[in-house]
Amino acid sequence: MSSINVDVSLKGSLKDADTLRDLAEIEEMDFSRIFDRPPRPLNMDRQRSCDERSLSELSAGVPIPSPRPSSRIENNFRLFDHLNCSSSPGRRSGFNTPISQTGVETHPTMAEAWEALRRSLVYFRGQPVGTIAALDNSEEQVNYDQVFVRDFVPSALAFLMNGEPEIVKNFILKTLRLQSWEKKIDRFQLGEGVMPASFKVLHDPVRNNETLMADFGESAIGRVAPVDSGFWWIFLLRAYTKSTGDTSLAEKPECQKGMRLILSLCLSEGFDTFPTLLCADGCCMVDRRMGVYGYPIEIQALFFMALRCALLLLKQDEEGNEFVQRITKRLHALSFHMRSYYWIDLKHLNDIYRYKTEEYSHTAVNKFNVIPDSLPEWIFDFMPVRGGYFIGNVSPARMDFRWFCLGNCIAILSSLATPEQSTAIMDLIESRWEELVGEMPLKVIYPAIESHEWQIVTGCDPKNTRWSYHNGGSWPVLLWLLTAACIKTGRPQIARRAIELAETRLIKDNWPEYYDGKLGRFVGKQARKCQTWSVAGYLVAKMMLEDPSHLGTVALEEDKQTKPLIRRSNSWTF
Ligand code: GLC
Repeated sequence: MSSINVDVSLKGSLKDADTLRDLAEIEEMDFSRIFDRPPRPLNMDRQRSCDERSLSELSAGVPIPSPRPSSRIENNFRLFDHLNCSSSPGRRSGFNTPISQTGVETHPTMAEAWEALRRSLVYFRGQPVGTIAALDNSEEQVNYDQVFVRDFVPSALAFLMNGEPEIVKNFILKTLRLQSWEKKIDRFQLGEGVMPASFKVLHDPVRNNETLMADFGESAIGRVAPVDSGFWWIFLLRAYTKSTGDTSLAEKPECQKGMRLILSLCLSEGFDTFPTLLCADGCCMVDRRMGVYGYPIEIQALFFMALRCALLLLKQDEEGNEFVQRITKRLHALSFHMRSYYWIDLKHLNDIYRYKTEEYSHTAVNKFNVIPDSLPEWIFDFMPVRGGYFIGNVSPARMDFRWFCLGNCIAILSSLATPEQSTAIMDLIESRWEELVGEMPLKVIYPAIESHEWQIVTGCDPKNTRWSYHNGGSWPVLLWLLTAACIKTGRPQIARRAIELAETRLIKDNWPEYYDGKLGRFVGKQARKCQTWSVAGYLVAKMMLEDPSHLGTVALEEDKQTKPLIRRSNSWTF
């Protein structure tokens, strides 16, 4: 953080976009200072083939000098500059168990988890390109035999943290190819940038051939396009670049284009009055009707994260610069909006409780005309004296006060949450341990909706009955997000406690997808076993606790530029 302050004198002379980007660069470096251990040395950069060189290098027709002058993206990730490029990549593919960084004995569950993760690998024409959602043959497969983009994220992180980046690179390139497919639902064509929810490798034994089949929402239950996939893709590209120091992948013209196509989808102008992204229900991890439509935190936090990652990855060419400008503007507006209107704590809850309604004019305090009577009963007991969180949704006359784990953790990791807000979120998790962690981490949403509300909101979905699946179920995959958030806020003991709860049960229960019940005591009614992201989520959590420097792969530091300047209520400061 100190280097951000040191650079204050520079800021005034820079334009908005440059400032933000430069701060992003500085913050990238900060992680290298915070954490002692530099990333594992890789020599991938030296071994780039011609087709991997940057567009600018190729179009200029100049031979690649060695060492090359550093590119814009390399500068963004310049903490890798000092790495010993002559050593060979830290591949450990041959091992089933990870090598402990600290020499500390790893838990026996780790070895089993690595084996399970490797069993889930999916190959396309001889190359590993992803991991299958679940290896459970006892249940009807539906689409659990596919590689889901969002499910692959913890797998990718596990491989990156174990020094095996190749599969991540293959996945990034494969899904990029899928993005260019024509996507249609009935007669309607989806945006060019849409990334698939999942894909599958089809084997043709007659022709002895393999082809890919992808789902962009046209086969999905409910026919919703996965808004989160593109954001996760950008996140992974940055994680790969950060973890390996190999900037050549992000520099590829096709990766730059893929990123711009995703960004075009979510930065386009329309009728919006809010900087948040308008979404259909079921377009993220909660992929069926659960009242998560409108402006759900799950997507807004990922949107923020993806914009910040893109800022680090975009090349400074004409097209890239245009996006940098648009992203910069959006980030300013988005962080202000989210930090102001989605944040709730005891003080703010009391403010809403006393809101006046029907206020017209730009001076309105109750801007969205939220009627205090719409405050749900449970929130008054749930809200601790210390702590707060980003609520699920904000739109006209509607605040969804439910707690969403993924959105809040991503808000911490992306620094959408200010340091004070991040601390408050951790305080809330500690104070509401029984509700949010219980006997099995972690509640995806809290609380469950039941009875009439369940009928109306889910459309009587039998899979989403109270305290099950998305409706208040407990999802072990969320462990990696909690652990990363704990490390970022300096509270690793919280993650340790949660992991200890999960560790022995997960293996005994054969890695269920989710648990049911108020405390997460029961293996989920329709939960798949051998669910890969439960395995990978556990592994990533363990690896991060063991070596906190991995945090740099998944987290971004606060950007002073996006700090809110004006507060809605005068007494409210961060
Ligand atoms: C379920 C989850 C979804 C996940 C998929 C594959 O549908 O809701 O988030 O991607 O299973 O595991």
